Amino acid sequence: MKQIAVVGVGYVGLVTAACFADLGNKVIALDIDEERIARLKRGEMPIYEPGLEELVRRNVHAGRLAFTTSYREALDGTEFAFIAVGTPEGVDGEADLRYVEAAAKSIAETMREPLIVINKSTVPVGTGDWVADIIRQHQPEPVPFSVVSCPEFLREGSAIADFMNPHRVVLGSTDKDAAEKVAQLHLPLRAPIIVTDLRTAEMIKYASNAFLATKISFINEIANICEALGADVEEVAVGMGYDPRIGPLFLKAGLGYGGSCFPKDVKALAHMAEEKGRHPQLLHAVMEINADRRRMVVERVKEMLGGALEGKTVGLLGLAFKPNTDDMRESPAIDIARGLQEAGATVRAYDPIAMDNAKAIMPGVTMCADPYALAEGSDALVVVTDWNEFKQLDLEKVRDLMRQPVMFDGRNIYDPEKMCALGFRYHGVGRGYACPQPEADEAEDAM
Ligand code: UGA
Repeated sequence: MKQIAVVGVGYVGLVTAACFADLGNKVIALDIDEERIARLKRGEMPIYEPGLEELVRRNVHAGRLAFTTSYREALDGTEFAFIAVGTPEGVDGEADLRYVEAAAKSIAETMREPLIVINKSTVPVGTGDWVADIIRQHQPEPVPFSVVSCPEFLREGSAIADFMNPHRVVLGSTDKDAAEKVAQLHLPLRAPIIVTDLRTAEMIKYASNAFLATKISFINEIANICEALGADVEEVAVGMGYDPRIGPLFLKAGLGYGGSCFPKDVKALAHMAEEKGRHPQLLHAVMEINADRRRMVVERVKEMLGGALEGKTVGLLGLAFKPNTDDMRESPAIDIARGLQEAGATVRAYDPIAMDNAKAIMPGVTMCADPYALAEGSDALVVVTDWNEFKQLDLEKVRDLMRQPVMFDGRNIYDPEKMCALGFRYHGVGRGYACPQPEADEAEDAM
Protein backbone atom coordinates (compact mmCIF):
# COMPACT_ATOMS: atom_id res chain seq x y z
CA MET A 1 0.00 0.00 0.00
CA LYS A 2 1.50 3.32 -1.11
CA GLN A 3 0.81 6.49 0.85
CA ILE A 4 -0.19 9.56 -1.15
CA ALA A 5 -0.98 13.15 -0.22
CA VAL A 6 -3.22 15.22 -2.48
CA VAL A 7 -3.13 18.98 -1.98
CA GLY A 8 -6.37 20.67 -3.02
CA VAL A 9 -9.79 19.04 -2.89
CA GLY A 10 -11.38 20.87 -5.78
CA TYR A 11 -12.56 18.99 -8.79
CA VAL A 12 -9.30 17.40 -9.88
CA GLY A 13 -7.91 16.86 -6.38
CA LEU A 14 -10.95 15.15 -4.96
CA VAL A 15 -11.40 12.83 -7.93
CA THR A 16 -7.67 12.00 -7.94
CA ALA A 17 -7.67 11.32 -4.19
CA ALA A 18 -10.78 9.14 -4.26
CA CYS A 19 -9.63 7.16 -7.32
CA PHE A 20 -6.11 6.50 -6.01
CA ALA A 21 -7.69 5.35 -2.73
CA ASP A 22 -9.98 3.05 -4.68
CA LEU A 23 -6.91 1.56 -6.37
CA GLY A 24 -5.77 0.44 -2.91
CA ASN A 25 -3.50 3.29 -1.82
CA LYS A 26 -3.72 5.20 1.45
CA VAL A 27 -4.59 8.77 0.53
CA ILE A 28 -4.71 11.89 2.68
CA ALA A 29 -6.37 14.79 0.92
CA LEU A 30 -5.58 18.27 2.16
CA ASP A 31 -7.18 21.65 1.70
CA ILE A 32 -6.61 24.90 3.55
CA ASP A 33 -10.35 25.60 3.36
CA GLU A 34 -11.50 24.36 6.78
CA GLU A 35 -15.18 24.50 5.92
CA ARG A 36 -14.63 22.36 2.81
CA ILE A 37 -12.69 19.75 4.80
CA ALA A 38 -15.30 19.76 7.58
CA ARG A 39 -18.02 19.13 5.01
CA LEU A 40 -16.05 16.32 3.38
CA LYS A 41 -15.55 14.71 6.78
CA ARG A 42 -19.35 14.77 7.15
CA GLY A 43 -19.62 13.08 3.74
CA GLU A 44 -20.86 16.21 1.90
CA MET A 45 -19.37 16.75 -1.58
CA PRO A 46 -18.26 20.28 -2.51
CA ILE A 47 -18.97 19.58 -6.20
CA TYR A 48 -21.45 17.54 -8.18
CA GLU A 49 -19.86 14.64 -10.01
CA PRO A 50 -21.72 11.41 -10.77
CA GLY A 51 -20.49 8.55 -8.55
CA LEU A 52 -18.10 10.67 -6.49
CA GLU A 53 -20.03 10.71 -3.22
CA GLU A 54 -20.31 6.94 -3.17
CA LEU A 55 -16.63 6.50 -4.12
CA VAL A 56 -15.52 8.85 -1.33
CA ARG A 57 -17.81 7.20 1.22
CA ARG A 58 -16.59 3.71 0.35
CA ASN A 59 -12.93 4.61 0.62
CA VAL A 60 -13.28 6.65 3.80
CA HIS A 61 -15.13 3.72 5.31
CA ALA A 62 -12.36 1.32 4.23
CA GLY A 63 -9.78 3.57 5.93
CA ARG A 64 -7.97 4.36 2.66
CA LEU A 65 -9.09 8.01 2.34
CA ALA A 66 -8.91 10.79 4.94
CA PHE A 67 -9.19 14.57 4.89
CA THR A 68 -7.11 17.14 6.72
CA THR A 69 -6.13 20.81 6.81
CA SER A 70 -2.70 19.97 8.26
CA TYR A 71 0.33 19.66 5.96
CA ARG A 72 2.13 17.85 8.77
CA GLU A 73 -0.56 15.15 8.89
CA ALA A 74 -0.78 14.91 5.08
CA LEU A 75 2.97 14.58 4.48
CA ASP A 76 3.89 12.38 7.41
CA GLY A 77 5.23 9.10 5.99
CA THR A 78 4.25 10.05 2.44
CA GLU A 79 6.41 9.43 -0.63
CA PHE A 80 4.12 11.20 -3.13
CA ALA A 81 2.43 14.61 -2.92
CA PHE A 82 0.10 15.63 -5.72
CA ILE A 83 -0.54 19.35 -6.20
CA ALA A 84 -4.09 19.71 -7.54
CA VAL A 85 -5.00 23.28 -6.64
CA GLY A 86 -6.85 25.74 -8.85
CA THR A 87 -5.10 27.85 -11.49
CA PRO A 88 -7.71 30.52 -12.25
CA GLU A 89 -7.38 33.02 -15.05
CA GLY A 90 -5.27 36.07 -14.24
CA VAL A 91 -5.91 39.61 -15.47
CA ASP A 92 -4.23 39.26 -18.89
CA GLY A 93 -5.37 35.72 -19.63
CA GLU A 94 -2.29 34.19 -18.01
CA ALA A 95 -2.80 31.45 -15.39
CA ASP A 96 -2.82 32.73 -11.80
CA LEU A 97 -0.34 30.55 -9.91
CA ARG A 98 -0.76 31.88 -6.38
CA TYR A 99 -2.31 28.62 -5.08
CA VAL A 100 0.41 26.49 -6.68
CA GLU A 101 3.02 28.75 -5.10
CA ALA A 102 1.38 28.55 -1.66
CA ALA A 103 1.15 24.75 -1.89
CA ALA A 104 4.81 24.43 -2.95
CA LYS A 105 5.93 26.66 -0.05
CA SER A 106 3.90 24.73 2.52
CA ILE A 107 5.20 21.40 1.19
CA ALA A 108 8.78 22.72 1.39
CA GLU A 109 8.36 23.99 4.93
CA THR A 110 6.76 20.74 6.17
CA MET A 111 8.54 17.87 4.39
CA ARG A 112 11.08 15.91 6.39
CA GLU A 113 11.54 12.85 4.21
CA PRO A 114 12.36 12.51 0.49
CA LEU A 115 9.29 13.38 -1.55
CA ILE A 116 8.08 13.23 -5.14
CA VAL A 117 5.95 16.31 -5.82
CA ILE A 118 3.57 15.65 -8.71
CA ASN A 119 1.81 18.53 -10.37
CA LYS A 120 -1.69 17.79 -11.65
CA SER A 121 -2.94 21.36 -11.98
CA THR A 122 -2.89 22.85 -15.49
CA VAL A 123 0.09 25.17 -15.28
CA PRO A 124 2.06 27.26 -17.77
CA VAL A 125 5.03 25.61 -19.40
CA GLY A 126 8.00 26.10 -17.09
CA THR A 127 6.00 25.93 -13.85
CA GLY A 128 7.50 22.59 -12.82
CA ASP A 129 10.98 24.13 -12.77
CA TRP A 130 9.62 27.12 -10.85
CA VAL A 131 7.95 24.84 -8.27
CA ALA A 132 11.30 23.06 -7.78
CA ASP A 133 12.99 26.43 -7.15
CA ILE A 134 10.32 27.42 -4.61
CA ILE A 135 10.68 24.15 -2.73
CA ARG A 136 14.46 24.44 -2.71
CA GLN A 137 14.29 28.02 -1.40
CA HIS A 138 11.76 27.31 1.34
CA GLN A 139 13.10 24.09 2.82
CA PRO A 140 14.42 24.82 6.32
CA GLU A 141 17.16 22.26 5.56
CA PRO A 142 17.80 20.33 2.33
CA VAL A 143 15.70 17.16 1.95
CA PRO A 144 15.80 15.38 -1.45
CA PHE A 145 12.78 15.83 -3.69
CA SER A 146 11.76 15.64 -7.36
CA VAL A 147 9.07 17.40 -9.32
CA VAL A 148 7.04 15.41 -11.84
CA SER A 149 4.36 16.81 -14.12
CA CYS A 150 1.32 14.55 -14.53
CA PRO A 151 -1.40 16.57 -16.26
CA GLU A 152 -5.00 15.49 -15.85
CA PHE A 153 -7.34 14.81 -18.78
CA LEU A 154 -10.58 14.36 -16.82
CA ARG A 155 -13.89 15.64 -18.11
CA GLU A 156 -16.49 16.93 -15.71
CA GLY A 157 -19.43 14.57 -15.58
CA SER A 158 -17.33 11.51 -16.41
CA ALA A 159 -14.25 12.25 -14.32
CA ILE A 160 -14.16 8.95 -12.43
CA ALA A 161 -14.48 6.83 -15.57
CA ASP A 162 -11.87 9.05 -17.26
CA PHE A 163 -9.46 8.60 -14.34
CA MET A 164 -9.92 4.85 -14.24
CA ASN A 165 -9.70 4.38 -18.04
CA PRO A 166 -7.24 6.97 -19.31
CA HIS A 167 -6.21 7.05 -22.97
CA ARG A 168 -2.70 7.83 -21.76
CA VAL A 169 -0.75 8.90 -18.69
CA VAL A 170 1.76 11.68 -19.33
CA LEU A 171 4.69 12.06 -16.96
CA GLY A 172 7.29 14.79 -17.22
CA SER A 173 10.51 14.82 -15.24
CA THR A 174 14.24 14.90 -15.62
CA ASP A 175 14.48 12.44 -12.71
CA LYS A 176 13.90 9.06 -14.39
CA ASP A 177 13.70 7.26 -11.04
CA ALA A 178 10.93 9.56 -9.78
CA ALA A 179 9.03 9.23 -13.08
CA GLU A 180 9.32 5.44 -12.82
CA LYS A 181 7.86 5.50 -9.28
CA VAL A 182 4.92 7.66 -10.40
CA ALA A 183 4.46 5.35 -13.40
CA GLN A 184 4.15 2.43 -10.93
CA LEU A 185 1.26 4.22 -9.20
CA HIS A 186 -0.57 4.33 -12.54
CA LEU A 187 0.15 0.74 -13.65
CA PRO A 188 -3.24 -0.63 -12.50
CA LEU A 189 -4.88 1.72 -15.02
CA ARG A 190 -3.32 -0.28 -17.89
CA ALA A 191 -2.83 2.81 -20.06
CA PRO A 192 0.10 3.81 -22.26
CA ILE A 193 2.53 5.82 -20.14
CA ILE A 194 4.51 8.56 -21.86
CA VAL A 195 7.60 9.75 -20.01
CA THR A 196 9.08 13.01 -21.20
CA ASP A 197 10.62 16.17 -19.76
CA LEU A 198 8.69 18.57 -17.51
CA ARG A 199 8.06 21.30 -20.07
CA THR A 200 6.92 18.91 -22.77
CA ALA A 201 4.46 17.24 -20.38
CA GLU A 202 3.05 20.64 -19.41
CA MET A 203 2.73 21.53 -23.09
CA ILE A 204 0.94 18.25 -23.94
CA LYS A 205 -1.91 19.33 -21.68
CA TYR A 206 -2.31 22.79 -23.27
CA ALA A 207 -1.90 21.45 -26.79
CA SER A 208 -4.53 18.76 -26.15
CA ASN A 209 -7.12 21.19 -24.80
CA ALA A 210 -6.37 23.75 -27.51
CA PHE A 211 -6.73 21.08 -30.19
CA LEU A 212 -10.11 19.96 -28.85
CA ALA A 213 -11.29 23.58 -28.64
CA THR A 214 -10.09 24.05 -32.23
CA LYS A 215 -12.13 21.05 -33.34
CA ILE A 216 -15.22 22.60 -31.73
CA SER A 217 -14.65 26.02 -33.30
CA PHE A 218 -13.92 24.35 -36.62
CA ILE A 219 -17.22 22.49 -36.68
CA ASN A 220 -19.05 25.62 -35.52
CA GLU A 221 -17.54 27.53 -38.44
CA ILE A 222 -18.66 24.73 -40.76
CA ALA A 223 -22.12 24.94 -39.14
CA ASN A 224 -22.32 28.61 -40.06
CA ILE A 225 -21.40 27.82 -43.65
CA CYS A 226 -23.84 24.87 -43.73
CA GLU A 227 -26.66 27.19 -42.67
CA ALA A 228 -25.86 29.59 -45.47
CA LEU A 229 -25.55 26.85 -48.11
CA GLY A 230 -28.39 24.57 -47.05
CA ALA A 231 -26.31 21.60 -45.78
CA ASP A 232 -26.73 19.72 -42.49
CA VAL A 233 -23.73 19.95 -40.13
CA GLU A 234 -24.84 16.90 -38.12
CA GLU A 235 -24.50 14.72 -41.20
CA VAL A 236 -21.36 16.51 -42.33
CA ALA A 237 -19.77 15.65 -38.95
CA VAL A 238 -20.77 11.98 -39.30
CA GLY A 239 -19.41 11.88 -42.82
CA MET A 240 -16.13 13.45 -41.73
CA GLY A 241 -15.79 11.40 -38.55
CA TYR A 242 -15.45 8.04 -40.28
CA ASP A 243 -12.05 9.13 -41.57
CA PRO A 244 -9.69 7.91 -38.84
CA ARG A 245 -7.45 10.92 -39.49
CA ILE A 246 -10.35 13.11 -38.34
CA GLY A 247 -12.34 10.96 -35.88
CA PRO A 248 -15.96 11.43 -34.82
CA LEU A 249 -15.49 13.06 -31.41
CA PHE A 250 -15.65 16.76 -30.56
CA LEU A 251 -17.38 17.55 -33.83
CA LYS A 252 -20.67 18.51 -32.23
CA ALA A 253 -21.73 21.92 -33.44
CA GLY A 254 -23.57 24.02 -30.91
CA LEU A 255 -23.10 27.08 -28.76
CA GLY A 256 -19.35 26.68 -28.40
CA TYR A 257 -17.18 25.50 -25.55
CA GLY A 258 -17.48 26.67 -21.96
CA GLY A 259 -16.35 25.36 -18.59
CA SER A 260 -13.34 25.93 -16.44
CA CYS A 261 -10.78 24.49 -18.86
CA PHE A 262 -10.99 25.21 -22.59
CA PRO A 263 -11.69 28.97 -22.37
CA LYS A 264 -8.96 29.49 -19.78
CA ASP A 265 -6.40 27.16 -21.33
CA VAL A 266 -6.69 28.44 -24.92
CA LYS A 267 -6.29 31.99 -23.62
CA ALA A 268 -3.33 31.02 -21.42
CA LEU A 269 -1.58 29.25 -24.32
CA ALA A 270 -2.05 32.29 -26.55
CA HIS A 271 -0.69 34.46 -23.74
CA MET A 272 2.39 32.25 -23.32
CA ALA A 273 3.04 32.39 -27.06
CA GLU A 274 2.69 36.18 -27.20
CA GLU A 275 4.97 36.69 -24.24
CA LYS A 276 7.65 35.00 -26.32
CA GLY A 277 6.88 37.14 -29.37
CA ARG A 278 4.88 34.54 -31.31
CA HIS A 279 1.57 35.21 -33.07
CA PRO A 280 -0.93 32.47 -32.27
CA GLN A 281 -3.40 33.38 -35.05
CA LEU A 282 -5.23 30.06 -34.98
CA LEU A 283 -5.84 30.25 -31.23
CA HIS A 284 -7.27 33.75 -31.62
CA ALA A 285 -9.61 32.57 -34.37
CA VAL A 286 -10.73 29.68 -32.15
CA MET A 287 -11.61 32.13 -29.36
CA GLU A 288 -13.37 34.58 -31.68
CA ILE A 289 -15.52 31.89 -33.26
CA ASN A 290 -16.44 30.69 -29.79
CA ALA A 291 -17.49 34.17 -28.62
CA ASP A 292 -19.55 34.62 -31.81
CA ARG A 293 -21.65 31.56 -31.03
CA ARG A 294 -23.17 33.33 -28.06
CA ARG A 295 -23.92 36.54 -29.99
CA MET A 296 -25.41 34.47 -32.80
CA VAL A 297 -28.08 33.04 -30.49
CA VAL A 298 -29.40 36.49 -29.59
CA GLU A 299 -29.55 37.51 -33.26
CA ARG A 300 -31.25 34.30 -34.29
CA VAL A 301 -33.93 34.49 -31.57
CA LYS A 302 -34.53 38.13 -32.48
CA GLU A 303 -35.07 37.16 -36.13
CA MET A 304 -37.38 34.31 -35.16
CA LEU A 305 -39.48 36.70 -33.08
CA GLY A 306 -39.93 39.14 -35.92
CA GLY A 307 -36.91 41.41 -35.39
CA ALA A 308 -37.36 42.76 -31.85
CA LEU A 309 -37.04 41.37 -28.35
CA GLU A 310 -38.61 44.19 -26.32
CA GLY A 311 -41.49 42.86 -24.27
CA LYS A 312 -40.72 39.25 -25.23
CA THR A 313 -40.08 36.43 -22.74
CA VAL A 314 -37.34 33.95 -23.64
CA GLY A 315 -36.80 30.69 -21.72
CA LEU A 316 -33.41 28.99 -21.50
CA LEU A 317 -33.57 25.20 -21.37
CA GLY A 318 -30.38 24.41 -19.49
CA LEU A 319 -27.77 26.61 -17.84
CA ALA A 320 -24.74 24.42 -17.04
CA PHE A 321 -21.88 24.57 -19.55
CA LYS A 322 -22.61 20.94 -20.42
CA PRO A 323 -24.88 18.16 -19.10
CA ASN A 324 -24.26 16.14 -15.93
CA THR A 325 -22.66 18.99 -14.06
CA ASP A 326 -23.87 21.97 -12.03
CA ASP A 327 -20.82 23.96 -13.18
CA MET A 328 -21.69 27.41 -14.54
CA ARG A 329 -18.13 28.58 -15.20
CA GLU A 330 -17.93 30.23 -18.65
CA SER A 331 -21.29 28.71 -19.55
CA PRO A 332 -22.71 30.09 -22.83
CA ALA A 333 -25.96 30.62 -20.84
CA ILE A 334 -24.43 33.62 -19.04
CA ASP A 335 -23.62 35.64 -22.18
CA ILE A 336 -26.78 34.54 -23.95
CA ALA A 337 -29.01 35.68 -21.05
CA ARG A 338 -27.16 38.99 -20.83
CA GLY A 339 -27.44 39.55 -24.59
CA LEU A 340 -31.16 38.79 -24.59
CA GLN A 341 -31.74 41.09 -21.61
CA GLU A 342 -29.77 43.90 -23.24
CA ALA A 343 -31.98 43.53 -26.31
CA GLY A 344 -35.05 44.02 -24.10
CA ALA A 345 -36.21 40.45 -23.42
CA THR A 346 -37.29 39.02 -20.08
CA VAL A 347 -35.21 35.91 -19.49
CA ARG A 348 -36.25 32.85 -17.53
CA ALA A 349 -34.46 29.53 -17.17
CA TYR A 350 -34.60 25.96 -16.00
CA ASP A 351 -31.72 23.55 -15.35
CA PRO A 352 -31.95 20.20 -13.53
CA ILE A 353 -29.08 21.00 -11.13
CA ALA A 354 -27.25 24.23 -11.99
CA MET A 355 -29.89 26.77 -10.92
CA ASP A 356 -28.47 27.35 -7.44
CA ASN A 357 -25.05 28.15 -8.90
CA ALA A 358 -26.60 30.23 -11.67
CA LYS A 359 -28.71 32.47 -9.43
CA ALA A 360 -25.75 34.36 -8.05
CA ILE A 361 -24.23 35.16 -11.44
CA MET A 362 -27.31 35.72 -13.60
CA PRO A 363 -29.11 38.74 -12.18
CA GLY A 364 -32.66 39.31 -13.34
CA VAL A 365 -33.09 35.76 -14.66
CA THR A 366 -36.12 34.01 -13.12
CA MET A 367 -35.58 30.33 -12.37
CA CYS A 368 -38.51 28.02 -13.12
CA ALA A 369 -39.53 24.79 -11.39
CA ASP A 370 -39.48 22.60 -14.51
CA PRO A 371 -39.39 22.81 -18.33
CA TYR A 372 -43.19 23.14 -18.55
CA ALA A 373 -43.29 26.06 -16.10
CA LEU A 374 -40.56 27.60 -18.26
CA ALA A 375 -42.57 27.06 -21.44
CA GLU A 376 -45.70 28.63 -19.97
CA GLY A 377 -45.99 32.14 -21.36
CA SER A 378 -42.62 32.07 -23.16
CA ASP A 379 -42.35 33.61 -26.63
CA ALA A 380 -39.32 31.47 -27.43
CA LEU A 381 -37.28 28.66 -25.89
CA VAL A 382 -33.54 28.22 -26.41
CA VAL A 383 -31.89 24.84 -25.79
CA VAL A 384 -28.60 25.83 -24.13
CA THR A 385 -27.53 22.55 -22.49
CA ASP A 386 -28.15 19.12 -24.01
CA TRP A 387 -29.50 17.44 -20.88
CA ASN A 388 -31.07 14.04 -21.65
CA GLU A 389 -34.28 15.01 -19.86
CA PHE A 390 -34.91 17.71 -22.48
CA LYS A 391 -34.86 15.07 -25.20
CA GLN A 392 -37.83 13.33 -23.55
CA LEU A 393 -40.12 16.36 -23.13
CA ASP A 394 -43.80 16.24 -24.07
CA LEU A 395 -43.32 18.71 -26.90
CA GLU A 396 -47.01 19.07 -27.67
CA LYS A 397 -47.55 20.18 -24.09
CA VAL A 398 -44.58 22.55 -24.36
CA ARG A 399 -45.99 24.02 -27.59
CA ASP A 400 -49.45 24.53 -26.06
CA LEU A 401 -48.05 26.25 -22.97
CA MET A 402 -45.94 28.73 -24.94
CA ARG A 403 -47.20 32.12 -26.04
CA GLN A 404 -45.62 31.41 -29.43
CA PRO A 405 -44.15 28.03 -30.41
CA VAL A 406 -40.65 29.31 -31.23
CA MET A 407 -37.69 27.07 -30.47
CA PHE A 408 -34.00 27.74 -31.09
CA ASP A 409 -32.21 24.45 -30.52
CA GLY A 410 -28.63 25.42 -29.76
CA ARG A 411 -27.56 21.79 -29.34
CA ASN A 412 -29.51 20.07 -32.14
CA ILE A 413 -31.31 17.72 -29.76
CA TYR A 414 -34.58 17.67 -31.73
CA ASP A 415 -35.45 16.46 -35.21
CA PRO A 416 -36.17 19.57 -37.33
CA GLU A 417 -38.82 17.91 -39.47
CA LYS A 418 -40.70 16.60 -36.44
CA MET A 419 -40.52 19.98 -34.71
CA CYS A 420 -41.95 21.71 -37.76
CA ALA A 421 -44.66 19.05 -38.08
CA LEU A 422 -45.58 19.73 -34.44
CA GLY A 423 -46.12 23.35 -35.37
CA PHE A 424 -42.96 24.88 -33.92
CA ARG A 425 -41.07 27.64 -35.63
CA TYR A 426 -37.83 25.77 -35.17
CA HIS A 427 -34.17 26.39 -35.89
CA GLY A 428 -31.26 24.16 -35.04
CA VAL A 429 -27.58 24.92 -35.48
CA GLY A 430 -26.00 24.50 -38.92
CA ARG A 431 -28.89 22.63 -40.41
CA GLY A 432 -30.10 23.41 -43.87
CA TYR A 433 -33.64 22.32 -43.03
CA ALA A 434 -36.05 25.23 -42.60
CA CYS A 435 -39.68 24.83 -41.55
CA PRO A 436 -42.02 25.34 -44.50
CA GLN A 437 -43.14 28.97 -44.45
CA PRO A 438 -46.75 29.47 -43.33
CA GLU A 439 -49.11 31.27 -45.68
CA ALA A 440 -49.00 35.06 -45.33
CA ASP A 441 -52.27 35.36 -43.33
CA GLU A 442 -51.29 32.43 -41.03
CA ALA A 443 -47.95 34.11 -40.38
CA GLU A 444 -49.73 37.29 -39.33
CA ASP A 445 -52.02 35.36 -36.99
CA ALA A 446 -49.02 33.81 -35.34
CA MET A 447 -47.40 37.19 -34.54
C1 UGA B 1 -12.02 19.29 -20.86
C2 UGA B 1 -11.28 18.15 -21.57
O1 UGA B 1 -12.19 17.41 -22.37
C3 UGA B 1 -10.60 17.22 -20.56
O2 UGA B 1 -9.84 16.24 -21.26
C4 UGA B 1 -9.66 18.05 -19.69
O3 UGA B 1 -9.05 17.25 -18.68
C5 UGA B 1 -10.46 19.14 -19.00
O4 UGA B 1 -11.08 19.97 -20.00
C6 UGA B 1 -9.50 19.96 -18.16
O5 UGA B 1 -8.60 20.58 -18.72
O6 UGA B 1 -9.57 19.87 -16.92
P1 UGA B 1 -14.41 19.55 -19.64
O7 UGA B 1 -14.12 21.01 -19.60
O8 UGA B 1 -14.91 18.86 -18.43
O9 UGA B 1 -13.08 18.72 -20.09
O10 UGA B 1 -15.52 19.36 -20.75
P2 UGA B 1 -15.69 18.77 -22.21
O11 UGA B 1 -16.56 17.57 -22.15
O12 UGA B 1 -14.40 18.60 -22.89
O13 UGA B 1 -16.52 19.94 -22.89
C7 UGA B 1 -16.02 21.27 -22.94
C8 UGA B 1 -16.98 22.16 -23.68
O14 UGA B 1 -16.99 21.87 -25.06
C9 UGA B 1 -18.45 22.05 -23.24
O15 UGA B 1 -18.98 23.35 -23.16
C10 UGA B 1 -19.11 21.27 -24.34
O16 UGA B 1 -20.48 21.59 -24.48
C11 UGA B 1 -18.31 21.73 -25.55
N1 UGA B 1 -18.30 20.75 -26.65
C12 UGA B 1 -17.68 19.56 -26.51
C13 UGA B 1 -18.90 21.08 -27.88
O17 UGA B 1 -19.47 22.19 -28.03
N2 UGA B 1 -18.84 20.19 -28.90
C14 UGA B 1 -18.23 18.99 -28.79
O18 UGA B 1 -18.21 18.23 -29.78
C15 UGA B 1 -17.63 18.66 -27.55
